[in-house]
Amino acid sequence: MMIEKIYCADVKPKMEGERVRLAGWVYRKREVGNKVFIVLRDSSGVIQTIFIKDLSEDAYGKAKQVGIESSVIIEGTVKSDPRAPTGVEIQADKIEIIQNVEFFPITKDASDEFLLDVRHLHLHSPKVGSIMKVKGTLMQAAREWLLQDGWYEVFPPILVTGAVEGGATLFKLKYFDKEAYLSQSAQLYLEAAIFGLEKVWSLTPSFRAEKSRTRRHLTEYWHLELEAAWMDLWDLLKVEEELVSYMLQRTLELRKKEIEEFRKDFTTLKNSEPPFPRISYDEAIDILQSKGVKIEWGEDMGADEERILTQEFDKPFFVYGYPKHIKAFYMKEDPEDSRKALAADMLAPEGYGEVIGGSEREDDYNKLVQRIIEEGMDPKNYEWYLDLRKYGSVPHSGFGLGLERLVAWVLKLDHIRWATLFPRTPSRIYP
Ligand code: 4AD
Repeated sequence: MMIEKIYCADVKPKMEGERVRLAGWVYRKREVGNKVFIVLRDSSGVIQTIFIKDLSEDAYGKAKQVGIESSVIIEGTVKSDPRAPTGVEIQADKIEIIQNVEFFPITKDASDEFLLDVRHLHLHSPKVGSIMKVKGTLMQAAREWLLQDGWYEVFPPILVTGAVEGGATLFKLKYFDKEAYLSQSAQLYLEAAIFGLEKVWSLTPSFRAEKSRTRRHLTEYWHLELEAAWMDLWDLLKVEEELVSYMLQRTLELRKKEIEEFRKDFTTLKNSEPPFPRISYDEAIDILQSKGVKIEWGEDMGADEERILTQEFDKPFFVYGYPKHIKAFYMKEDPEDSRKALAADMLAPEGYGEVIGGSEREDDYNKLVQRIIEEGMDPKNYEWYLDLRKYGSVPHSGFGLGLERLVAWVLKLDHIRWATLFPRTPSRIYP
């Protein structure tokens, strides 16, 4: 059964006098004299419907008793009215109550924790809907860009046997009589795929058993990763800024209304045209020290340090040339300075910080084995990966973008958990 209906947002003032049928949920309701006003909500938006006692006593009676978030089908006539929130309203004469809700558990004063406890009901909220629309549009834009730039989409495994980003954040599981993990990153598999496809990408869930409770960590997040043969770090940064810029500009074009619900100032988003500024890790340390931050060369930057750095920029920017020992084993050593890796992160402005981590990959077999051992891992577990450096190895680079981190910045969310349908954090795996 497909209900025949028109979406709220498709009812236009020029349809004055037309008869329409809408299906959705009761968003707001108020009674004034012999009238009941119901703001109806569907996936497209909201529209005001008016039930007048004299017009249809039956419909008026039902409208009077229907509760907030009840599912209903409403029929009536389009009336343009400049005072109505969308310039148009429905003079309703029929309402079918599909399911009446006497009391919806989410009320105006609900706490964030309660909203997360009933996240399955929180998804009724148009604001949550707007976040999900923006997230979907960012990915739609990414796909458009990747397609026109000649990248192949691949579908890597999620059940894996090796760490990519360090053993400390692995989720272990029993795989029959063996031990396996949930993937932290598709990278190693994407590196294998470039030998047939050269430029590949994937969107997969990535898992990190991060116990740290921060505003930018989830234990499960959506990871957009690209890997390309024949590219060095500087080629890679061009790909990153072009892709991210396209994602932002296209989403601004398609989802302006939704973004406006969250931020009034579009400057940083509009500014995000290539080239993005590039500063070295050394310069970043100098900036931080000059601002009184206690950090020494060789130390990793956390969210706090990154937040301070972002004050210097009004668009995304890169920090490159990190010390090798604070970065992952697969990153290529800088041939000009063996203390450093050919790695760069992209940081979002307005305090948000890292949204992308990327690097050129170590293609020297012996150096790679050495780094695996230094990280306390067993090269035996990486035999297949090491094989990639034996049979037709090429210079190559890649990166990973945390989709929820990008959404959090674009919509200025106060916590990454709002950027995902059912957030997973150390204290939350239900609902
Ligand atoms: O910097 P990361 O750990 O890099 C990798 O996983 C590489 N193997 C990717 C690659 O080169 N193919 O993670 C990449 C991005 C980060 O910049 C961040 O945006 C996001 O993934 N990220 C997280 N997002 C949410 N919750 C977490 N716990 C995240 N950890 C990383």
